[in-house]
Amino acid sequence: MNLRIIEKEDLPLFAEWFNKLEVLGEYNPVHQGSRTDIEKMLESPNELKPFIIEKKDGSKIGFIAHFYVLHVAGRQLEIGYSLVPNERGKGYCSEAVKTMVDYLFLSKDVTRVQAQTDPRNVASQKVLEKTGFRKEGILRKTFFTRGEWRDAFVYGILREEWREPKILTKIT
Ligand SMILES: CC(C)(COP(=O)(O)OP(=O)(O)OC[C@H]1O[C@@H](n2cnc3c(N)ncnc32)[C@H](O)[C@@H]1OP(=O)(O)O)[C@@H](O)C(=O)NCCC(=O)NCCS
Repeated sequence: MNLRIIEKEDLPLFAEWFNKLEVLGEYNPVHQGSRTDIEKMLESPNELKPFIIEKKDGSKIGFIAHFYVLHVAGRQLEIGYSLVPNERGKGYCSEAVKTMVDYLFLSKDVTRVQAQTDPRNVASQKVLEKTGFRKEGILRKTFFTRGEWRDAFVYGILREEWREPKILTKIT
């Protein structure tokens, strides 16, 4: 598996994934975004662009994004991810999340990385736990999607819990 920052040529596929319920899965919020909307979103600073998850043969199987959630006393760095249905359950997301956490702690002066997941999303929780994230709590009725308010578990990993890169190499 490789992670590579999104390029303009990925836009049609990314827009398709962004709007497709099968790719979003049962638990992600649903938004409809036109290709133009998504193009604008991708004009954000480089550090916030999603990464495409590719297999070794170059096929594109999903994405992993990182973004800042504003807080009055600081910024929280959060990640989110999705894979196309026929590539799930093969370990790709666990590898992508480990790689992303290495990248974030190696390249940014942050104390923690967090993720939110629907309490029913067992696959996502396993991915996070295998990467060393700890369940920190539940946000009750925190987002509205598909006609209802939903809860989210918050998971976090601190820099001192991560300690050292698991996949990437620290080049000195
Ligand atoms: C969540 C998701 C990204 C996980 O990716 P993945 O590549 O399938 O994850 P992995 O193959 O690394 O599997 C992680 C673990 O979850 C388990 N798992 C996979 N699907 C599962 C399911 N439906 N129910 C329970 N466990 C499941 C795997 O067996 C594996 O467990 P193990 O490590 O003990 O063997 C993927 O299912 C997905 O894209 N879902 C839709 C979008 C989504 O929910 N994104 C996350 C929002 S927070």
